[in-house]
Amino acid sequence: MSHEHTPLAYYWSSPSGNTKALADKLQCETRPIGEGATAPYILITPTYEQPRAGNTIPPQVARWLENNHSLLVGVIGTGNRNFGGLFCRAAVDVSTTYRVPVLHRCELRGTDADTRTIDAGIAQHFDTLTRLRGIT
Ligand SMILES: Cc1cc2nc3c(=O)[nH]c(=O)nc-3n(C[C@H](O)[C@H](O)[C@H](O)COP(=O)(O)O)c2cc1C
Repeated sequence: MSHEHTPLAYYWSSPSGNTKALADKLQCETRPIGEGATAPYILITPTYEQPRAGNTIPPQVARWLENNHSLLVGVIGTGNRNFGGLFCRAAVDVSTTYRVPVLHRCELRGTDADTRTIDAGIAQHFDTLTRLRGIT
């Protein structure tokens, strides 16, 4: 499938590396956050419950997004269902803050079914996501 924009995902992962492991399995190009975003992208973020008044987005991710949210088109979460209502809450909070859809949530590094779902969704919908954000 040809795309107006090449599908791209930025991620942040702690030393446990689950989110990086998920990113490394995906078919699209993936980059760790750090450098500024130069093209429309999907964010992949874990959730770390923090004692900071419901602020679940990892601080590194929150800071990077402040400067790079204009090219954000959707968000994918990694987490753990043991956290109940806080499962992948950082992805939900990014979605609410920046008005982009939560595309998928998975546990830890995701199953093969998760990666197939994410790959298929990105291949089919990346251009639509960029248009929804007004990026041409
Ligand atoms: C201290 C701690 C707090 C966590 N809090 C949450 C949480 O609130 N919600 C959730 O879904 N997962 C939570 N998790 C699970 C992580 O988000 C999950 O393991 C994720 O895949 C970690 O990604 P990473 O290895 O890339 O950092 C927590 C894990 C730890 C160690």
